[in-house]
Amino acid sequence: MKIKFSLQKTPLEKIRADALALALFEDKKLSQELEKLDKILGGLLKSALKEEFEGKEGEILSLHTHGKISAKKIIIAGLGKKKEFNSHILQNIGIAIVKAAKASKAKILAIAPFEEENIPSLVEGVVLGNYEFKKYYSKKEKEHLKKIIIIAEVSGKNKEAVETAAHFAQATNFARDLVNEPASHLSPYSIVQEAKKIKRHSPGISLKILDKRSLKKIGAGGILSVAEGSDQPPYLVHLSYKPQGAKKRIVLVGKGLTFDSGGISLKPADKMMEMKIDMAGAAVVLGVFSALKHFKPKVEVHGIIPTCENMPSGKALRPGDVIKTLSGKTVEVLNTDVEGRIVLADGLTYGAKLKPDLMIDLATLTGACIVALGDEIAGLMVNEAKVAELMGKVSEKTGEKFWLLPLPKEYKEGLKSEIADLNNIGFGKGKAVTITGGLFLEEFVENIPWAHLDIAGPVWKEKEGATGFGVRTIVELIRSL
Ligand code: BES
Ligand code: ZN
Ligand code: ZN
Repeated sequence: MKIKFSLQKTPLEKIRADALALALFEDKKLSQELEKLDKILGGLLKSALKEEFEGKEGEILSLHTHGKISAKKIIIAGLGKKKEFNSHILQNIGIAIVKAAKASKAKILAIAPFEEENIPSLVEGVVLGNYEFKKYYSKKEKEHLKKIIIIAEVSGKNKEAVETAAHFAQATNFARDLVNEPASHLSPYSIVQEAKKIKRHSPGISLKILDKRSLKKIGAGGILSVAEGSDQPPYLVHLSYKPQGAKKRIVLVGKGLTFDSGGISLKPADKMMEMKIDMAGAAVVLGVFSALKHFKPKVEVHGIIPTCENMPSGKALRPGDVIKTLSGKTVEVLNTDVEGRIVLADGLTYGAKLKPDLMIDLATLTGACIVALGDEIAGLMVNEAKVAELMGKVSEKTGEKFWLLPLPKEYKEGLKSEIADLNNIGFGKGKAVTITGGLFLEEFVENIPWAHLDIAGPVWKEKEGATGFGVRTIVELIRSL
């Protein structure tokens, strides 16, 4: 549910809310405003801080105000050490505050006091922290956080800061919704419908859909062959946003496997159960496009989504089959579970034809990337050092982390095939799986400055579900171009 935000500049004791959230560093120093509040509360704040609160990053302490001020409860959040403080920490504090407010069933939450420059990160945290995916529970919960009061000057600048931040976080939540949705309810055609919805609600965006027939016509043998085993027809979605006076063009390509069973090279059950997430790259592209109208960048943006389902059947692609991709290059498919790079090959060829200044693909490409980097860090592979540099700067701002992996020419050896231009498994045997995935994709980028983001790990967190990882990065990247 969307929460309403409002700005209010009222003395803290007069704020009418179910919970009033404050944040303090480890030094626990109270501002003048908080000193005053403590007096009205009869020293409640100081005594609680002394005994029950250290100010550690993310620490939460809830206190009853017993009717001494208008707010029923006070939530104090720890900001950690002043020296280590950054906007990413603040975003996490926003998340922690909302979770504490929801746990105490607050409907109206006021957050104060803080520097105005912190508004965006806090608001983002609040919107992200309020996210839940409970549509399939038959029992609906009644208690909902409805309103957030940000205690700050009611100025045009602050209003805009709140709105923009809320939109960015909502774009991330939209991507999370798509990833959390089971494959029974989110097919390749649903991806098409989502793209149509975005186009309908955003004037400057146009949309081209290539269905199975059009894909055959242009020779997109990668997408078509992976889709062969499924009853769901494949699509290539092409969203574009072309503002007047744009000096740069960026192409985003998102892997859109709405379910990856592995195909004939069937996955074992424990590796298959979360494979509805194999469209998380596509979800990032859709998330970013849903936000474009709110920040109107002066950059031309294209979003390419090859989308299909990887299933076993009598018609499915077989191990050992040779296919011809959109680029004309042939691939010997030794393992049908290594399908991501095959559909992305067509997406990248399609994207490269648009001659962008920068092309980024986002894909849940390899489980090996999770083994190497865990679920906090995505793999980054580039064909030019300056692209990695740009990604590094963006990452510093958003807090979404990437680790640069090499694409050594020597490892291209692994992609050789006896009977086709490439094989799809690289060395096999678990050797440099993530890297050979990147090298395979590089064959289709036509020397355009490019980054491959293997987001298999951070798009999903146990117990939390989809994270929307990548949306912030791409939004920030577009803003920085
Ligand atoms: N979609 C998977 C990768 C994946 C695994 C994403 C876990 C998210 C979580 C991909 O299509 C795949 O099956 N990759 C194989 C490649 C390997 C056989 C070379 C993998 O990672 O096991
Ligand atoms: Zn697979
Ligand atoms: Zn896959």
